[in-house]
Amino acid sequence: MYKIAYNDGNRPPSAILEVESYAGPVPFELNLDASRSVDPDGDVLSYSWYVNDELLETTELPQYRHVIEEPGVYYVHLVVDDGNEGTANSGLSTIIAGNSRPKVDIALEGNQQFYFNNQPIRYTVHVEDLEDGSFEDGGLDESRLLVNTDYLTSFDQAATTLGHQEYIDPALEVEAIIGNNDCASCHKVDEPSIGPSYVDVAQKYKNDPNAETYLMDKIKNGGSGVWGEVAMSAHPDMNDSDLRKIANWIQSLAEEKTEVQSLARKGRIVPSREFQLTEGGTIVLKASYTDKGGPGTESLTGQQLVYLSGPVIFPHEATEVDGATAGSYEGNDFLALNNETARANLGSIDLTDVGQIEVTYVQIEEGEGATSIALHQGSPDGPVIGTGQTSNRGQAMAADVLRLKIDRESRQPYDQVWLVANRDGSSPAVVLVKLELSN
Ligand code: HEC
Repeated sequence: MYKIAYNDGNRPPSAILEVESYAGPVPFELNLDASRSVDPDGDVLSYSWYVNDELLETTELPQYRHVIEEPGVYYVHLVVDDGNEGTANSGLSTIIAGNSRPKVDIALEGNQQFYFNNQPIRYTVHVEDLEDGSFEDGGLDESRLLVNTDYLTSFDQAATTLGHQEYIDPALEVEAIIGNNDCASCHKVDEPSIGPSYVDVAQKYKNDPNAETYLMDKIKNGGSGVWGEVAMSAHPDMNDSDLRKIANWIQSLAEEKTEVQSLARKGRIVPSREFQLTEGGTIVLKASYTDKGGPGTESLTGQQLVYLSGPVIFPHEATEVDGATAGSYEGNDFLALNNETARANLGSIDLTDVGQIEVTYVQIEEGEGATSIALHQGSPDGPVIGTGQTSNRGQAMAADVLRLKIDRESRQPYDQVWLVANRDGSSPAVVLVKLELSN
């Protein structure tokens, strides 16, 4: 069992275990790295490497390599020791040897960055699995494929889901953590024992927003009086990462298991029919495949997510700007063209299938004269992709739209697109609001 000991004046280290790869065929080379572990007192650390709770070796170097020969599910953890009775445990990582994660790829036809409201998105999912094969060679089973879509109204949401590519069934990991502890002597999953069943616990805290912290705390500190007079023992040596995994797994037992319907492996989605579209929203296409798993080992899920943004570019979000400034008025963001020449780097843009771009602008003062707007490829002096001119109605504060036509030859992906605006000296000042792409 793990111990965390403290002595006066010595602060314990923290253990961080990084695993190069979580799954693969045997012989499986386990490459472990603890170099992000730290000691607040700057003590020299030693590293003890465990597989299935068995100490393999204690090393002075924070790297360790171990070859697993037999297929199976393995649990790895690390204990760092600062030599002054301060130790820390990394928590378990699950390794699946003897099976490789399927590689999932969503291939899109046409534009790879934007969706267009009424134009179908055509996709095909390809899967390669080292052990099972591919759909093309008949080795895979469509019922193990899950294809679905989601619509995010802001990109922040998209950024937070990006990380979840490496997926291990959390129940497996929790089984190991619980197996390394004494929980099973008092708890069963779905029937009461000395303590309540995990399913009953899940039901009780189903609607409690603080359930995660509450359960973590209770498992660590024990206590009685919630389910009866019998006390639950404390587990002061369990680390937060393991506590959180157990708490989340218990919580998941209350989730209703709905049959998820998969879209076809190859199909089309018309955004305006499928979603309530908003400006700046993002369509997410997700595909995951769970393989059969080899003898003595577990199956693995591989997944891919593809993001398609709404067909709008906001010039105030440009990364490099010269002769213009980003501003906001009554909640509307814009890029103000202050100088006679302004340039803004709009970043990489895929113009595949884009026939025209509508630029919304506001002329903010009265006067004669026009501003020309052009998109250039690669740099402000690069080849022109499309150009247009503001039409001057002589009025102040009137929003208007100018159209940039995109030639057939220019409808392709660009690493960098620059917007360049030229205003003749006397023409009225203009702010740019957005660029809308359409076929
Ligand atoms: C010695 C027996 C015993 C052991 C060992 C034990 N528990 Fe418990 N557990 C109990 C009892 C009894 C209760 C009910 C306590 C109460 O009524 O407040 C309980 C309650 C719980 C609850 C519900 C808490 C609440 O307040 O509703 C959770 C979650 C839980 N245990 C998880 C675990 C986990 C995880 C482990 C292993 C790390 C574990 N228990 C080990 C006896 C035990």
